[in-house]
Amino acid sequence: MALVNLLATQTQTQTQTQRIMEPRSLLVLPILLALSSSATAARDTITPATPLADNETLISASGAFALGFFTPPGSSYRYVGLWYNKISEANHTILWVANRKNPVADSAPLLSVTPDGKLTITAQPPNSTVIWSSPSSTVKISSPVAQLLDNGNLVVKQAGESSGSYGWEGFNYITDTLIPGMKLGVDFATGFNRTLVAWTSPSDPSPGPFHAFMDVKGDPDIYLYEGSTPIWRSGAWDGTHLSGVPDMSTYQGFSFQFVNNSTEVTYSYTIADQSLVSRLVVISKGTVQRALWVWDTDQWNYFWSAPKDPCDYIGACGPFGLCDSNDSPICSCLQGFVPENPANWNLRDGHDGCRRKTQLDCANVTVGFQPVSNVKLPQSDNCTVDMSLSLDQCRALCLQNCSCTAYASANISADGSGCVIWAGQLYDIRNYVGGGQDLYVRLAAADIGKHFVLEFCSFIAKLVST
Ligand SMILES: *[C@@H]1O[C@H](CO)[C@@H](O)[C@H](O)[C@H]1NC(C)=O
Ligand SMILES: *[C@@H]1O[C@H](CO)[C@@H](O)[C@H](O)[C@H]1NC(C)=O
Ligand SMILES: *[C@@H]1O[C@H](CO)[C@@H](O)[C@H](O)[C@H]1NC(C)=O
Ligand SMILES: *[C@@H]1O[C@H](CO)[C@@H](O)[C@H](O)[C@H]1NC(C)=O
Ligand SMILES: *[C@@H]1O[C@H](CO)[C@@H](O)[C@H](O)[C@H]1NC(C)=O
Ligand SMILES: *[C@@H]1O[C@H](CO)[C@@H](O)[C@H](O)[C@H]1NC(C)=O
Ligand SMILES: *[C@@H]1O[C@H](CO)[C@@H](O)[C@H](O)[C@H]1NC(C)=O
Ligand SMILES: *[C@@H]1O[C@H](CO)[C@@H](O)[C@H](O)[C@H]1NC(C)=O
Ligand SMILES: *[C@@H]1O[C@H](CO)[C@@H](O)[C@H](O)[C@H]1NC(C)=O
Ligand SMILES: *[C@@H]1O[C@H](CO)[C@@H](O)[C@H](O)[C@H]1NC(C)=O
Repeated sequence: MALVNLLATQTQTQTQTQRIMEPRSLLVLPILLALSSSATAARDTITPATPLADNETLISASGAFALGFFTPPGSSYRYVGLWYNKISEANHTILWVANRKNPVADSAPLLSVTPDGKLTITAQPPNSTVIWSSPSSTVKISSPVAQLLDNGNLVVKQAGESSGSYGWEGFNYITDTLIPGMKLGVDFATGFNRTLVAWTSPSDPSPGPFHAFMDVKGDPDIYLYEGSTPIWRSGAWDGTHLSGVPDMSTYQGFSFQFVNNSTEVTYSYTIADQSLVSRLVVISKGTVQRALWVWDTDQWNYFWSAPKDPCDYIGACGPFGLCDSNDSPICSCLQGFVPENPANWNLRDGHDGCRRKTQLDCANVTVGFQPVSNVKLPQSDNCTVDMSLSLDQCRALCLQNCSCTAYASANISADGSGCVIWAGQLYDIRNYVGGGQDLYVRLAAADIGKHFVLEFCSFIAKLVST
């Protein structure tokens, strides 16, 4: 089985803001050092003998992350959360919450690691009721400690061991935010299905209705749902970025990883430059946002969000419809298709979509393909993917199979490779100015534009000659 480890590395360009930032971070460092040396030495580890009190924080080795009890604005409960230690905010941006379903009303709770390797949040002694607990350790640990690692991962491990397997780790239980090192997606070996689930509201970290998860079927991609209703999808990975997030290619300093193999299907990202602080979050109102911390203004810059325009909503133009947010109306039919429900279509409701002008006659070889350029590929849950085929082989495969309605390249990096084949309806296609990729839609000859017939003939000629 082919190992599919897609890694897109953006060239790191030193931008002007980064250069401006440097002198500032040099100034901040001594101040932080001064602050930490005046207080009691910061620790990053909890042992069974030294639990974390309500008024204490764990600080990771380089000082990047802090973990401790917090109260969200407008709430009266205490939670154990993770935040950036080096950025100055009125209220911390919480990146991860341990006990999101188990709020603490107690005034002096403790975060402890038990001798058998569980993390617990307990009420003030001597009551010590267990309010929240991590599951039992997956490995045998004789002398457990909990440590806040420098990437923000809180782990339970054997005291003194710097490598090896963890008994438990917070990164397996992501909440609403993805930071570098966290993975969104499914690990088939361990069964973890790491999903971003939004807070109920800014004052309530409990799981709300909005969640983003990896759909592993067909050509995998990430879906945003509200309860059981699909809202938005990222589009499949095209070898360099997610097909529905074309601006990913403009991010500087980021490196995105999309892994699809027999043990996992996951999305993650890394940032080499430590001064670039960025997070991906599903907010309680239901948008997925990417934010970047701007050191000059001490503010988050939310530079990307989805859904962003009407075409981002799944199925805005129905089957065989094409959504263009710069057009009015936004919905049109793919070439060779006409509105299914012209009355509603004229009332600007595109949900019924389109149907073929001319039915496909599979026995009749005079069918061909209409390329549709710069699009987010249709919903791909039911697609067939073969990474070993070229685009020409993909076309031949589609032509041979009566249920094939479209095909596209699975990997557009370099000259394109791999094959995605759709059967049945094509759903949720939108276009992008200067982004997206080519989709080849199967049509009856009568519905294909003249120059495409020529293109098709030359393709047949090529097939015959090979
Ligand atoms: C996608 O294409 C690039 C360039 O040819 C190649 O390096 C990469 O391995 C391909 N990815 C897959 C999954 O085939
Ligand atoms: C936390 O509170 C306890 C008891 O009130 C106090 O003894 C301790 O010094 C405090 N620790 C910090 C770091 O403020
Ligand atoms: C910070 O939290 C307090 C209450 O805990 C709230 O009144 C205030 O608006 C919050 N500030 C910001 C910037 O969110
Ligand atoms: C012990 O703490 C729990 C959690 O805070 C609380 O519900 C319970 O009432 C407390 N019990 C006593 C006897 O104080
Ligand atoms: C992962 O979780 C999501 C959201 O609960 C669910 O829709 C999806 O089917 C799960 N995936 C797997 C492979 O279990
Ligand atoms: C799948 O990819 C992950 C991450 O690159 C790797 O650790 C794992 O060994 C791969 N599994 C297989 C079966 O190749
Ligand atoms: C994903 O991985 C599976 C198992 O290795 C493979 O069969 C499938 O073709 C891959 N799909 C993509 C889109 O890379
Ligand atoms: C194939 O399609 C063409 C054009 O629609 C039509 O004229 C011809 O009769 C069809 N042939 C068969 C065998 O159905
Ligand atoms: C995929 O197939 C399932 C089961 O046949 C169907 O319910 C679903 O609507 C299909 N998805 C798409 C995008 O066509
Ligand atoms: C034709 O394509 C469909 C959908 O991709 C697939 O399920 C079916 O097995 C294919 N049939 C043949 C003969 O390849």
